[in-house]
Amino acid sequence: MHSIRSQFISFITALLLVLLLLLNTYPLISSRDAVFEEKRSSMTGQAATVSSTLSSLERLSPENIAEVLRYLDVSAYSRVVVTDLGGKVLYDTAGAAGEPTELEDLLTSLEGKTVFRSSFSEDAFNSSVAMPLSANGALTGAVYLSEHDAERAEIILGFQHRIRAASLGIGALALVLAFLFVFFLLQRIQALVRSMHVVADGDYSYRHKNRGRDEITELGEEFNQLTERLQTTEEQRRRFVSDASHELKTPLASIRLLADSIVHNDNIDAGTMREFVTDIGNEAMRLQRTTEKLLDLSRLDDKVSAPAEPVDLKKVVLDSLTPLRPLAQEKGVALETELEDGCVVLATEDDLFHVVFNLVENAVKYNVPQGSVGIRLQGDERNVSLTVSDTGIGIPEEDRQNIFSRFYRVDKARSREAGGSGLGLSIVHDAVLAHGGSITVGQNHPQGSVFCVTFPRPTTEETAT
Ligand SMILES: Nc1ncnc2c1ncn2[C@@H]1O[C@H](COP(=O)(O)OP(=O)(O)OP(=O)(O)O)[C@@H](O)[C@H]1O
Ligand SMILES: [Mg+2]
Repeated sequence: MHSIRSQFISFITALLLVLLLLLNTYPLISSRDAVFEEKRSSMTGQAATVSSTLSSLERLSPENIAEVLRYLDVSAYSRVVVTDLGGKVLYDTAGAAGEPTELEDLLTSLEGKTVFRSSFSEDAFNSSVAMPLSANGALTGAVYLSEHDAERAEIILGFQHRIRAASLGIGALALVLAFLFVFFLLQRIQALVRSMHVVADGDYSYRHKNRGRDEITELGEEFNQLTERLQTTEEQRRRFVSDASHELKTPLASIRLLADSIVHNDNIDAGTMREFVTDIGNEAMRLQRTTEKLLDLSRLDDKVSAPAEPVDLKKVVLDSLTPLRPLAQEKGVALETELEDGCVVLATEDDLFHVVFNLVENAVKYNVPQGSVGIRLQGDERNVSLTVSDTGIGIPEEDRQNIFSRFYRVDKARSREAGGSGLGLSIVHDAVLAHGGSITVGQNHPQGSVFCVTFPRPTTEETAT
């Protein structure tokens, strides 16, 4: 594995090397080129002056050439050579006259061409120019000037040294800064990774300490939020498991007790026996109801219910009232309905049945004799709402926020006596939310409770599908 640190440092080093290389070569190459250019113009200019002055002489001889050159002052040049048309040296500041010249450039310029050369070597600029001489349009010879310039070279070399020293300093500083930067950045990332390990090991109460205000802080905040959600889920799961086991334990204990009494009682009469067995049956029924409700809840949790389709809520209300009428009659509670037509909701019939059934069942169960339950269904262009109100015992204000929690019962004894498991309203709540609706609970006047469920009305396209 390549660590971010080594990747980043190699990237920065490569970048710095390229930059420093450019910085160390480009200005030198261009200033050298500028010197070459300047030499070319000054030396060809000087050679042209020499050439035209010599051309005006009637006859070229070492003496009059020396005379002219003294007059033109060519002392800055390291060597000056003049030849005749045949290449014989007439004048040479670096040797004897009379021999044929050995200088290639002079021979070339005797063919009528000007040759300029300049190079940078041995810490100096070495330049030369060879130019033909002509009188009245005819070639008469050639002149050669050469120069050795160490002064300019020294300036450029000094400049080069300064750039090199400065760039080495800047490079080192940049590397140190880059190293410090990744060091601190990586420390923060490593701290986050350590926090992740702590949480992964099961400590959901741990929170990462965030510093600064940047993307890493954002990452840390996201991580903390995720941990918080994990913690909540984990707590809910634990509570649920303990509540569920408790709920199942109670009827199972009753069944065992009843069965034991039958087994250990030798002279039990038929009537008592029937009573005990009936009780066992009732407890078993309660167990069955609880497990069925738990299964409904886990199905809603997994969101694996059938696909939603347009459902007429009025039909669902009427269907769910049928099995509740005997219970209402037994308790002397009147069911009053006021149902609008055309209240269509996008959901599954099963889920809506659970919603209506549980709300109306509660309204009947927690009612008073001669009380009543009002079921009202109405819709506007945006929403469909179902209101279930009762004249029952009501729900104390402080319990209202909890009644949708699993296994929550206001009056445990009374609810259990009525066969309740405390799961009905959780199923209602989850089913309503699963289909995009909302549910509220309030107080009915003068007494009782009101539950109001609202679903968004589906659009025409949704109803068509
Ligand atoms: N209409 C109501 N009037 C008064 N109290 C209510 C009403 N509806 C619910 N409650 C209170 O809220 C608690 C939770 O209701 P929920 O329907 O979830 O459970 P349950 O009726 O006890 O059992 P289950 O519905 O699972 O058989 C009830 O135990 C009861 O105390
Ligand atoms: Mg209920």
